[in-house]
Amino acid sequence: MKEIHINVSVSLLMPDELSAADLELVERAKAMTRNSYSPYSHFQVGAALRLADGTIYGGSNQENAAFPVGLCAERTAFFYAQAQAPDQPPAAIAIAAFTGGAFLAKPISPCGMCRQALLEAETRYGQPIRVLLYGTEGTYVINSVKELLPLTFDGSEMA
Ligand code: THU
Repeated sequence: MKEIHINVSVSLLMPDELSAADLELVERAKAMTRNSYSPYSHFQVGAALRLADGTIYGGSNQENAAFPVGLCAERTAFFYAQAQAPDQPPAAIAIAAFTGGAFLAKPISPCGMCRQALLEAETRYGQPIRVLLYGTEGTYVINSVKELLPLTFDGSEMA
């Protein structure tokens, strides 16, 4: 038997270590939490997606009385951006969560479905999307969605 080890590289950055562009993206994600519609979970998630041309599209989680109908902040921002600017590869996405009157100390990470959705854009445009996960104790920076979703299914095996 051979074991395969998969390493994921995550950087932890303090606000003064983020570039101005990354800080702006994180601030947009934080602001987007205010637009969350989350009467069921009371968990307000904001996302901000920067495209290659610098445009930023924001999203927030949108819940529904029929729970599975709701959509995460990441996919709200991502699909919105893709629908408006399909010629622009996504370059980076920032995510923040606010609950109980405060931003979370430890970053939240996109759910599996959002990772898969974002992976599609990495495949589509052939460019990695940087992922910035905000927490009050620091921001995790991951250089590619693939890092968050090892052993990916990206459709390349399909005929
Ligand atoms: N949620 C997101 O919007 N993004 C995540 O990364 C995790 C979870 C939302 C879905 C639901 O509205 C609420 O947070 C609780 O799961």
